[in-house]
Amino acid sequence: MDRFLGAADSALRTLFSKPRATRPCPVVPADETRLAADDSREAAALMRVNHVGEVCAQALYTAQALATRDPALRAHFERAAQEENDHLAWTAERLSELGDRPSLLNPLWYAGAFGLGLLAGRLGDRLSLGFVVETERQVEAHLQSHLDRLPATDHASRAIVAQMKEDEAAHAAQALQAGAAELPAPAKALMRAAAKVMTTTAHYI
Ligand SMILES: [Fe+2]
Ligand SMILES: [Fe+2]
Repeated sequence: MDRFLGAADSALRTLFSKPRATRPCPVVPADETRLAADDSREAAALMRVNHVGEVCAQALYTAQALATRDPALRAHFERAAQEENDHLAWTAERLSELGDRPSLLNPLWYAGAFGLGLLAGRLGDRLSLGFVVETERQVEAHLQSHLDRLPATDHASRAIVAQMKEDEAAHAAQALQAGAAELPAPAKALMRAAAKVMTTTAHYI
């Protein structure tokens, strides 16, 4: 019961309260970010996509923590969720600095990711960890693509994305070390397709 309430609490906090980071937002102090209107709009769209990704990360890790019976693995997932919460806070903050809003569909993304996390958890701990490895790798590649697409002068967004990319790589490595199994290729392809739908939609809505 405690764990279910914890998961519900985490869902409500992710969706409806202002997340608080435990680490300071990465910035490049020497370079002040000044953007033309077009660049600012495009940067905001990309940061909205990244914010949705972090909403999903909260849902996935919370669901996977709920699904496992291994207390050590639960602690592992909860620790990762805590770090992802920094990402959630940084992207939310940057979005509002850019004068834009988060995705209107966040409750939907959260629910979908939560279901996926429960499903991954049902497949057993090694596959659940394998799902983390594949997710984090895909997110890392996605963040690299954003480093190529973000306006070159948007130092503030770029610093955040660069730090997130580093953290996601570490999450993948930690899950591997915890005993992750490799997911079958069709599962990876399906995950890429689902991510594509999410990133394309969140760019606009
Ligand atoms: Fe993240
Ligand atoms: Fe991550």
